[in-house]
Amino acid sequence: MPKPERGIFSPYASILKVNYTKYNLMGFDQYHEPAEELSQPVRTFARMIKSLIEEAEAIDWYEQRISVEKDKQAKKIMENTQKEEFIHFAMDLEFLLRKKDKWRTIMKNVLFKAGDIVKNGEKAEEKVED
Ligand SMILES: [Fe+2]
Repeated sequence: MPKPERGIFSPYASILKVNYTKYNLMGFDQYHEPAEELSQPVRTFARMIKSLIEEAEAIDWYEQRISVEKDKQAKKIMENTQKEEFIHFAMDLEFLLRKKDKWRTIMKNVLFKAGDIVKNGEKAEEKVED
């Protein structure tokens, strides 16, 4: 199949309101640069970022479902599932933080710290300024 130029590629593109370009094909839309120019580690990083986003979305979806569910057993199952999503999110995040020292330093200075979150963020920024 020839690579599409600018414009709609997928039959679902108009439904999804997505404009697929030759570098933005379905299934690889986590890339913002031409995929063939990205190294394998950068591609893996992009996949893990996408996974992190999806886990966060799942956490949000379960939060909303749990808040409106009336059936206690169904609610319990969703709470259990949301807990699994917390674990997936944590693993994805840890993987990413092991790849980015600056990000890890910032997280160490913001997460699980008492006090004002914004001030902690400002202090964390000072730690990574060049
Ligand atoms: Fe998950």
